[in-house]
Amino acid sequence: MLRTASSAGKQIIRLSRRCSTATSSPNANANTDSKPKPPLRPRPTPLTDEIIRVDHAGELGADRIYAGQMAILGNGPMGKTIEHMWEQEKEHRKQFEHLIQHHRVRPTVMAPIWNVAAFALGAGTALMGEKAAMACTVAVETVIVEHYNDQLRQIMESPNPDKELLETITKFRDEEQEHHDTGIDCGAEQAPFYNALTEVIKFGCKTAIAISKKI
Ligand SMILES: [Fe+2]
Ligand SMILES: [Fe+2]
Repeated sequence: MLRTASSAGKQIIRLSRRCSTATSSPNANANTDSKPKPPLRPRPTPLTDEIIRVDHAGELGADRIYAGQMAILGNGPMGKTIEHMWEQEKEHRKQFEHLIQHHRVRPTVMAPIWNVAAFALGAGTALMGEKAAMACTVAVETVIVEHYNDQLRQIMESPNPDKELLETITKFRDEEQEHHDTGIDCGAEQAPFYNALTEVIKFGCKTAIAISKKI
């Protein structure tokens, strides 16, 4: 115990010496790299920052929902249909991974939780059956289509609309609408407790969106 405390004390002394050396050196802030630095990208506007953070989180969630559905139903008759939607979600996620880095936007701190919760949602509804999985798709995509439409309006009304973001969200909104329609075509409305199930999932999605916008 004594040895541990003593060792910790030495560690603190070593660290404080290292810190004091760094701050007291006259050359501490000198720029020894003669290569010209690339100009810093302008900070994203608060609107762009919020849109990219929440959509990055949403597409991560969508990717994990379809991964959960595939884990349960991938080898069944709905496998190909779910896989096609999952492939599109992977592309959406990839694009927002690019945008979040390009604009240096901080991802939501909730990402690890959405990751697990979304997979559980996809797998959980798939365990209830194919129609329940489709009901989950319909509920999620209904919220996402509305959410993307709100964002498109916000971007178009902003002083300097971001053209790349407009095109990206328009394309993804159309694909989310297709996913919704596929869910309906595949019998989502025949799922047990369809109304209750979809309302609960919609509420969960809207809550996740509200949280991911801010933190
Ligand atoms: Fe998506
Ligand atoms: Fe989708």
